[in-house]
Amino acid sequence: MAQARNPCYLAAMPVFAQLTDFHLRPPGTLTLGEVDTDRLVSAAIDRVNAEHPEIEAVLVTGDLTDLGEEEAYNRAAMLLARFAVPVLVIPGNHDRADVMRDAFAAFPGVATAAVDGKICHATEIGGVTVVSLDTLVANAPHGTVGVEQLDWLDATLAAATGPALVAMHHPPFAVGIGFMDRVSLTDSAALAAVLTRHPNVMRVVCGHVHRTIVGAVGRVPAIAVPGVAHQVHLSLSPEAGPALVMEPPAYGIHIVRDGETISHVAYVDDYGPPIPVARGQTVEAVQ
Ligand SMILES: [Fe+2]
Repeated sequence: MAQARNPCYLAAMPVFAQLTDFHLRPPGTLTLGEVDTDRLVSAAIDRVNAEHPEIEAVLVTGDLTDLGEEEAYNRAAMLLARFAVPVLVIPGNHDRADVMRDAFAAFPGVATAAVDGKICHATEIGGVTVVSLDTLVANAPHGTVGVEQLDWLDATLAAATGPALVAMHHPPFAVGIGFMDRVSLTDSAALAAVLTRHPNVMRVVCGHVHRTIVGAVGRVPAIAVPGVAHQVHLSLSPEAGPALVMEPPAYGIHIVRDGETISHVAYVDDYGPPIPVARGQTVEAVQ
């Protein structure tokens, strides 16, 4: 379905939607026995399509499935086909690369591995180079970019003629939630060293932590956005164990401009129509 163009009023380069951490199970199966991820992912995709006709691509930053079943990947691919714009997918720690590669072979960059054994790709969209990294370590919850992918990233960023956005599953910064920092990225310092060499990198966008968390990797601002289904409980206690919470499902919207990037977190649930400012009131009066 073709979408009407409704460009951002800012003199912007592309606007990207970011959806993350679907954790789908085969149709009819609740994730963790209680989360209807199928309904939530479907609702998130419909919400983005309805609210953001200006997007030029969708970044899906991993954990498309919870346990890696083929039926779950096929369902994810079917749902993502509702987007009329390119959808860039990368795996998370819950994904199985071999099964995912088959189900998403038709998606940009998946069939043509830029780095052996990795689902990573670089796509230029409206003057922005989107570099999507694969941090999956088989059968492990933590993530690693790895030397080969870092070398490819370095060369790709050097060849980019405009701004670049880097998408990945694991945040390359500590988030302060102990049980998530124990399953974080192992080579953030090496990634920071590469990114520091390329001033055209505007932002790193990621998932994995199922919350809105802002940080940095070297000099580059980084943001993790919430999942489109369940979230991770915010506890700063070192004794806290892993726990989920049904806080509002959400997604990211990233606006890239010359010299800056603006990131929003928006909600999947319906909170009613926008309420226009009453006639005679100034905008300032309601803020
Ligand atoms: Fe996840």
